[in-house]
Amino acid sequence: MPVRYQEKDRAAVVTGVGGWVPPHVVTNEDLSARLDTSDEWIRTRTGIRTRHVISPGMATSDLAFEAGRRALASAGDPEIGAVVLATTTPDRPCPATAPDVAARLGLVGVPAFDISAVCAGFLYGLATAAGLIASGTARQVLLIGADAFTTIVDPKDRSTAVIFADGAGAVVLRAGQADEPGAVGPVVLGSDGRSAHLIQVPAGGSRQRSRSRSCDPGDEFFQMEGRETFRQAVERMSTTSRQAVEAVGWTLGDIDRLAAHQANARILKAVADRLAIPAGNQLSNISRVGNTGAASIPLLLAQSAENSSLTAGHRVLLTAFGGGLSWGAATLTWPRLPAS
Ligand code: COA
Repeated sequence: MPVRYQEKDRAAVVTGVGGWVPPHVVTNEDLSARLDTSDEWIRTRTGIRTRHVISPGMATSDLAFEAGRRALASAGDPEIGAVVLATTTPDRPCPATAPDVAARLGLVGVPAFDISAVCAGFLYGLATAAGLIASGTARQVLLIGADAFTTIVDPKDRSTAVIFADGAGAVVLRAGQADEPGAVGPVVLGSDGRSAHLIQVPAGGSRQRSRSRSCDPGDEFFQMEGRETFRQAVERMSTTSRQAVEAVGWTLGDIDRLAAHQANARILKAVADRLAIPAGNQLSNISRVGNTGAASIPLLLAQSAENSSLTAGHRVLLTAFGGGLSWGAATLTWPRLPAS
């Protein structure tokens, strides 16, 4: 049922968070046993030591369901008016995965749809959820970021197989006031399709259809030009972070916690250095979970809240960069959550 538009409650406020990774852990040694790589190379070039990988039979919706369930519980199981799922690895090309996840969470009848913005998907989802709330379409939104990147990465490609992994994270947002804890500040987004080739799965869409079974070798897999991606990620995340901080009326010195997309530890260090955010104020879980795509930021928030490196009152800067190219940043003051 459409909600009544209320002028005073137009901001999106975080009321719950949850994360989930599949139990199977793959170490750098496991990868070194089947690829021409080493624990030392992976650790020093990416900061990753372990990652979680889905088991046979598991799909993105399973990850999304678990994270969504935990976020709903953390928010006290509120009445949800919309479900938004950011993912690059939907269960199938058609239809969207969100309605399935919503139904499994008992949310039949609410609008539910996917967002495709690769590793920036959670921030695109945040802007979308805030828009659903501001427009009066929903008063409470479940936003999930979930990816099973190991299902699209070429297991023989050492430059991507060591980085990308599987996981999910979610937040619950409700309509509220812009000045209350948990309120999401202006979400700054951007894209540059001229460089779409830097991060892509060339086949499986309308240009190289999977039906033809004649795509170029390797084109069914995720491909990435690492060096230029690295350069763009640092530039876009630092620039857009400054814009988001300025848009909310803060300075970079106000930031208590940086929650950046966990792409690569060296990218994270370069972004934090540019923004002059001290090491102690940077949230990180990349060494344990790798790059989990759209799940990265909400999973980081969930794990950081759980281990108390993120607590109520912290002023948080979120930023992400990914394929498209697409990028974004936003701010929020971490709220006191019922379960925390
Ligand atoms: N193990 C060992 N050697 C590897 C390797 C691996 N897993 N992956 C690549 N190499 C090799 C390359 O083949 C290359 O060898 P060569 O010099 O003989 O050609 C060498 O290491 C250097 O490759 P390069 O790509 O220049 O390394 P890099 O220092 O840029 O690190 C990435 C590679 C992929 C780790 C880095 O470019 C990166 O992190 N890019 C961004 C990734 C990312 O975050 N993407 C997601 C954005 S959302």
